[in-house]
Amino acid sequence: MAGPTAEFWQQHFEQGRLPWDRGAASPQLKAWIEEGVLRPGQRVLVPGCGRGWEVVALAAMGAQVTAVDIAPGALAACAGLLKDAGLSATLIEADLLQWQPGERFDRVYEQTCLCALHPDLWVRYAQRLHEWLAPDGQLALLAVQALRPGAQEGRVEGPPYHLDINAVRALFPAGRWQWPRPPYARVQAPQLPQLPGHAGSAELALVLTRGTD
Ligand SMILES: C[S@@+](CC[C@H](N)C(=O)[O-])C[C@H]1O[C@@H](n2cnc3c(N)ncnc32)[C@H](O)[C@@H]1O
Repeated sequence: MAGPTAEFWQQHFEQGRLPWDRGAASPQLKAWIEEGVLRPGQRVLVPGCGRGWEVVALAAMGAQVTAVDIAPGALAACAGLLKDAGLSATLIEADLLQWQPGERFDRVYEQTCLCALHPDLWVRYAQRLHEWLAPDGQLALLAVQALRPGAQEGRVEGPPYHLDINAVRALFPAGRWQWPRPPYARVQAPQLPQLPGHAGSAELALVLTRGTD
C-alpha cells in the first residue's frame, strides 16, 4: 500500500502520539448537528475514526454509528470512550480500501481520513465513499489544508496530505455530487507539531450530496 501502513497508525496509538486528536468532538460536528445535516436515527459511517470522540457524540445524538479503523489501538480507545459514556456503536477493524459493508449509509462523517491516505489511493477511496452512501446521502468532509513547502517542487508529503480544493473537486465531481456554493466554513485544525511551520492549519468543512445513480 502506498503511504502509511497499518503498523504506522498502530504505533501512533500505542505511543500516544496523536497530534490530530482534539481530545473532544470537533466543533464542526456540533455545528452540523445543530444545522440538521446530522440527525438522530441516521445510519452514519465514520471512516478512520481514531479514538472516536465524534463516534461518541454521534451515538449520544441518537445516530446508528458504524466506525471503521485500520488500527486496533484506535478501536480499543473508541470502545473505552463509548463504554464510559454508556453508549454503543458498531466498531470494525478493517482497511477501508478493502472493506465491503453489507449496507449503505445516510451520512459519512469523514474527518481527516482522506488526508491520511496517500494520494495514489484517493481515486479508489473516493469511489468507495460514493458506493457506501445511499442515493441522496451526504458526505460531511473535513478537508485538511496543510500545504507543505515541498509541494512547490512537486513533492508529495504527508500525512496529512494537503487537500487542495481543486483536487477535492476532481475526486467528487459535480454531476456525481452536489456542491454547495463557497465560501465554506474553516475549522481550526489541532496543532501538528511534526510539521514545523504548519501549526494553525485548518480543515475545510464540505457537505456534498451524492446524486442518484
Ligand atoms: C489523522 S487520523 C484521524 C482520526 C480521527 N478521524 C480524528 O479526526 O481524530 C487518521 C485515522 O485513519 C486511520 N486509517 C488510516 N488509513 C486507514 C485505512 N486504510 N483504513 C482504515 N483506517 C485508516 C488511522 O488509523 C487513523 O485513526
